[in-house]
Amino acid sequence: PYAFLPHPPSLLTDNPQNRINAFGPTPSKPFVLGLPTGSSPEGIYAHLVTAYKTHAITFRNVVTFNMDEYVHLPRDHPESYHSFMYTHFFQHVDVDPAHIHILDGNAEDLEAECLAYEEKIRRVGGIELFLGGIGPDGHVAFNEPGSSLASRTRVKTLAYETILANSRFFGNDLTKVPKMALTVGVGTVLDAREVVVIITGAHKALALQKCIEGGVNHMWTLSSLQMHPHAMIVVDEDATLEL
Ligand code: GLP
Repeated sequence: PYAFLPHPPSLLTDNPQNRINAFGPTPSKPFVLGLPTGSSPEGIYAHLVTAYKTHAITFRNVVTFNMDEYVHLPRDHPESYHSFMYTHFFQHVDVDPAHIHILDGNAEDLEAECLAYEEKIRRVGGIELFLGGIGPDGHVAFNEPGSSLASRTRVKTLAYETILANSRFFGNDLTKVPKMALTVGVGTVLDAREVVVIITGAHKALALQKCIEGGVNHMWTLSSLQMHPHAMIVVDEDATLEL
């Protein structure tokens, strides 16, 4: 089942031209993809890797920007988002390493790192498609409740609920979970031409309900997608329990 926001993305539905752009971009006009981490997109990465290995698609002219990264977690830590992306995707496909952008949570000047990231996105002409997931508190990327809906890439302190949810990746030890992250802003996500968000599981049912049946508000940051002209939320049955 699908929970549709007002305008489904043309990439997946009604615009063959976009579909061609997605899978046949040219060096002069690369396809710019915003990418998430987390368990929700793992199936997508597995499909994309299979499609690449069976020569159905190539990523040669794809440029990627990841949504977020923990602050002060070593890049080679198994739970860093760098590690996640190489394990699940980049090491299996032909994305040019120069085309891969992931925020550096160990940069000396984190604010400068965030500003430079926005600038890099701007210079490639913006993001064509942002793929994402959400946390149980409705955060998209690491835009925790209370984030401005106009926010840009920045340093963000993680909410207790997020630290708790992500502790499963750190041996359920809350003290080991980073407390801060670099994240694209809600405004950065909304600037993408198309946005597709995957929401699965009963633990996200309240968030889905708040985000699509409630009003647009900064306590459930995904609700901002109601204002996006080409956005889609893909859900499983369990996530629809509160609708
Ligand atoms: C983290 C990420 C989010 C992601 C969320 C959900 O908090 N920063 O971008 O959407 O986890 O992860 P999962 O799909 O594992 O539930």
